Amino acid sequence: METLLKNTFLFLSKNRFANRTAKKYGLRLGAQRFVAGEQIMEAIAAVRELNNQGIVVTLDHLGEFIFTEEEAAELTDCCIRTLDEIASSGVNANLSLKMTQLGLDISRELCMQNMRKILDTASKHQIFVRIDMEDYAHNEISLAIFEELRKEYGTTIGIVIQAYLYKSEQDIDRLHAYRPNLRLVKGAYKEPAEVAFPKKEDVDSNYIKIIEKHLLNGDYAAVASHDDKIIEHVKKFAKEHQIPNSQFEFQMLYGIRTGAQQELAKEGYTMRVYVPYGNDWYGYFMRRLAERPANVGFVIKSMFKK
Ligand code: FDA
Repeated sequence: METLLKNTFLFLSKNRFANRTAKKYGLRLGAQRFVAGEQIMEAIAAVRELNNQGIVVTLDHLGEFIFTEEEAAELTDCCIRTLDEIASSGVNANLSLKMTQLGLDISRELCMQNMRKILDTASKHQIFVRIDMEDYAHNEISLAIFEELRKEYGTTIGIVIQAYLYKSEQDIDRLHAYRPNLRLVKGAYKEPAEVAFPKKEDVDSNYIKIIEKHLLNGDYAAVASHDDKIIEHVKKFAKEHQIPNSQFEFQMLYGIRTGAQQELAKEGYTMRVYVPYGNDWYGYFMRRLAERPANVGFVIKSMFKK
């Protein structure tokens, strides 16, 4: 049943008609639990609230199904505006983005041009920008773009490695030359067994393996997981190997395990919450439901609450 629900939500996340219909209803479908608002100032208010609890943030302007240069330019402007608002409001946040939003499926050149505009602004404000990792079809090109931009923009840029891919360990070795700041995740897309571990236990053990490898390499790790087993393992491993707290951080998604987020911050770890905002929230929301169909219960409750 859980697998059926998971696949249904992943299918819905890619459905353009459902996406358009959902946008009309705004954040009323229960998505407000996972999305900070439709406008930048609502997102900044959410960041402030988290900062007041000792939690730092990465902001993400949502946007999917980009087919024209104009749409890519609009989303590029949204990223630039987000950076400007972070700088002018003085909140403690950086930026996460998806390169398909910036026209990667239209052309690599267009995406690079838009990435450079964003990174010029980020460098000016000294704000870090992370490229989220999307599905396997975009994996190699994303890594190649990261390598090129890392040479131009230095430590302003980081990327994500997904433990469910067989190639992730090799990618950690490949990227080590850049001493990269990597977000390490289990992986959120539906991928075939040719490229990704089908079994959860194999994903989990590969996740531990790549986290340990990256930390022992002396590189900065953003461990993005809600899984207590992983979090406890990282804490213990860091202590045993004298890895300072300044070499890693924990990350979780907005609205998920908020108590655990506060606990980690109180324990003295850097806790960063991924705060998405914008009116194109539908695909993101469906992927959160797919990850944990139990969330549907919360959503149904919130739909009936005033
Ligand atoms: P997993 O789903 O394996 O669950 C393990 C345990 O965690 C559960 O048994 C439960 O105890 C707890 N848990 C999980 N979800 C919970 C919930 N909603 N409520 C309560 N407890 C819960 N993916 C990707 O492909 N590319 C990317 O760029 C990113 N970026 C990203 C950023 C951040 C900040 C996060 C946290 C995650 C991502 N991901 C991602 C998503 C990631 O790949 C993965 O799909 C999810 O984090 C789910 O995996 P977990 O490691 O959280 O635990």
